[in-house]
Amino acid sequence: MRGSALGDRGADALLTLSDVTAGYGAGLILKGVNLTIARGEIVCLIGPNGAGKSTVLKTISGLLRPKSGEVMFAGDDIGKLSSKERLHRGIVHVPQDRSLFPGMSVWENVMMGAFILSDQALVRRRLEQVAETFPIVAKRRSAVAGSLSGGEQKQVELARSLMLDPALILLDEPSIGLDPKSRTSVFASISALAVDGRTVLLVEQNARSGLAVAHRAAVLEAGVVALTGTGKELLNDPEVARLYLGASARGPIAGGVARPEDQR
Ligand SMILES: Nc1ncnc2c1ncn2[C@@H]1O[C@H](COP(=O)(O)OP(=O)(O)OP(=O)(O)O)[C@@H](O)[C@H]1O
Ligand SMILES: [Mg+2]
Repeated sequence: MRGSALGDRGADALLTLSDVTAGYGAGLILKGVNLTIARGEIVCLIGPNGAGKSTVLKTISGLLRPKSGEVMFAGDDIGKLSSKERLHRGIVHVPQDRSLFPGMSVWENVMMGAFILSDQALVRRRLEQVAETFPIVAKRRSAVAGSLSGGEQKQVELARSLMLDPALILLDEPSIGLDPKSRTSVFASISALAVDGRTVLLVEQNARSGLAVAHRAAVLEAGVVALTGTGKELLNDPEVARLYLGASARGPIAGGVARPEDQR
């Protein structure tokens, strides 16, 4: 099929990056990124350290503006909007580093996710919904966030990301630094986030788990999308296995993986 493999469901596209370039000074980190994400999908972005994965997320959430190219979200070019404006449009970003206020309670931290809302009845309703999805929010509501384990803190961060009932959640390395049990909980929670038409773009070093939970996936190398396919296709791609999954990951190829040169 012609077009990006991540654009197969182009009619449902929620987010489309077209030839996006971005960087932090004069130099470019993103050198023409093309990526389309359909509504309701979980898409996993993998790639080596320094490839620009976090930079892609920052360019979508508005922490960084593209130098050229388009960031289309729900039909509008949002590339020039501030991060707050993008938040209002339903894009939330859970950054790579821990982002809770350690001295505040769990409950207060989750409430911070709704800081742009003035309707307090709505905030309370959302809090109740979020606590249903993330029981830790009710169970540890008065605990000081800094006293929780890394895995618990990540659950609270994920819970906070739901407070605006976002259309798109950007998750940067949610499993980093966690023990295996907490990692499993985080990946289960990611599936729970992507319900009710919600869309998730996940960056993950733990590529095997990230690809397993994703509908679709992309490999970012040196600031461009080098490979796209379904999560399963990338899991079974020998080159992806060799580079990102460790030697034990070799397995059969379960169908074609779209490389950029196949898509023209
Ligand atoms: N605030 C910044 N100022 C200057 N350079 C930066 C900044 N943030 C990132 N970079 C550089 O941009 C490049 C891409 O960084 P980015 O964080 O997007 O990579 P990444 O793929 O997320 O890597 P990792 O897997 O290590 O998280 C790196 O060379 C990094 O040093
Ligand atoms: Mg990163």
